[in-house]
Amino acid sequence: MSPTAPNIEQLEVELGDRSYPILIGNNLINTAGSHIAPRLKGRKVIIVSDENVAPLWLPTFLKSFDELDLDVHSLTLPATETTKSFSHFERLLNDVLALEIDRKTTLVALGGGVIGDIVGFAAAVLLRGIDFIQVPTTLLSQVDSSVGGKTGINTSYGKNLVGAFHQPQLVLADTAALATLPKRELLAGYAEVVKYGLIDDFEFYEWCENNAKLLINGDQNAQRYAVLKSCQSKARIVAADERELGQRALLNLGHTFGHAFEAETGYGNKLLHGEAVSIGCINAFQLSAKLGLCEQQELIRIKKHFSQIGLRNSLSGLADESWTVERLIGHMAKDKKAEAGKITFILARGIGKSFVANDLSIDAVKDVLAQALTDAKS
Ligand code: GLY
Repeated sequence: MSPTAPNIEQLEVELGDRSYPILIGNNLINTAGSHIAPRLKGRKVIIVSDENVAPLWLPTFLKSFDELDLDVHSLTLPATETTKSFSHFERLLNDVLALEIDRKTTLVALGGGVIGDIVGFAAAVLLRGIDFIQVPTTLLSQVDSSVGGKTGINTSYGKNLVGAFHQPQLVLADTAALATLPKRELLAGYAEVVKYGLIDDFEFYEWCENNAKLLINGDQNAQRYAVLKSCQSKARIVAADERELGQRALLNLGHTFGHAFEAETGYGNKLLHGEAVSIGCINAFQLSAKLGLCEQQELIRIKKHFSQIGLRNSLSGLADESWTVERLIGHMAKDKKAEAGKITFILARGIGKSFVANDLSIDAVKDVLAQALTDAKS
């Protein structure tokens, strides 16, 4: 990491000729054009945003291109998880094609994880692949989804089942954008921050315990440090295993459980992705403790931390009589990480000591789910 200008940190995702920088700073959107222009192959830039983000940030973002001799266009999509569907994807492709793009055109995703995923996927397939740039505006997208090149949409069979690995040319994470996030979203995004500590960085986990309240209450230094540390971790893991053949799977800590809960709640406002991940992380540690891999104390410590800051740590108030272990296992089996019916789980030998487990007895998973459902319904 090296400072490029006062208040801007730069780090690199090292992927050979597909390497790219991540810039992190406050008010980066105000000067976005000057960071983006040197990365463009041609003059045409198409900014895709959503109905929540556009009124807040698009005018400032567009203004940053004022002095540049570029052909800039913008498109706006609805602001829901259901935007990541075939129908919106088709409309987006057609709207972009209507702007008469060529192979030197660059798409810019200005928004949260949904916008980053669908725009990245559009860039992956348009004209067999054009450039795109990520400008993530949520904590969740700044610390996770904007980095690493996973793009895609959801189908009725499950989340992110259609997509491509397509790396961006640049990630611009403006921490000022976090000031306009609803607290619930900030908290949900924090689940993906603390995840990095739980995976392999005990020291960062301790930092999280001591600083999460500040971060969630809007402290810019805490937010900036969290984004920086998270992006460093993610960049390191992606550089080592871009296509998730090995250690990148660690980033899915809490996600196998979490995706099942999201599938059950319909990927909507009832349960945000980060909330599903936070419950899933608890379940992953419960499973690890049940298998005798980690101390019960570690699980209790994480649960306490989550509850102290108001982060979801159970299915309480969500799961009703219609939720069953069998249905949840069914969702897990449809996860794209499942292979020949075997579900991959990320387990832990303690905080900061996670590992990938492919050959787990499903009975232990069922026990953890049964307990989680009993606790939620009692
Ligand atoms: N969000 C997990 C990954 O990018 O691999």
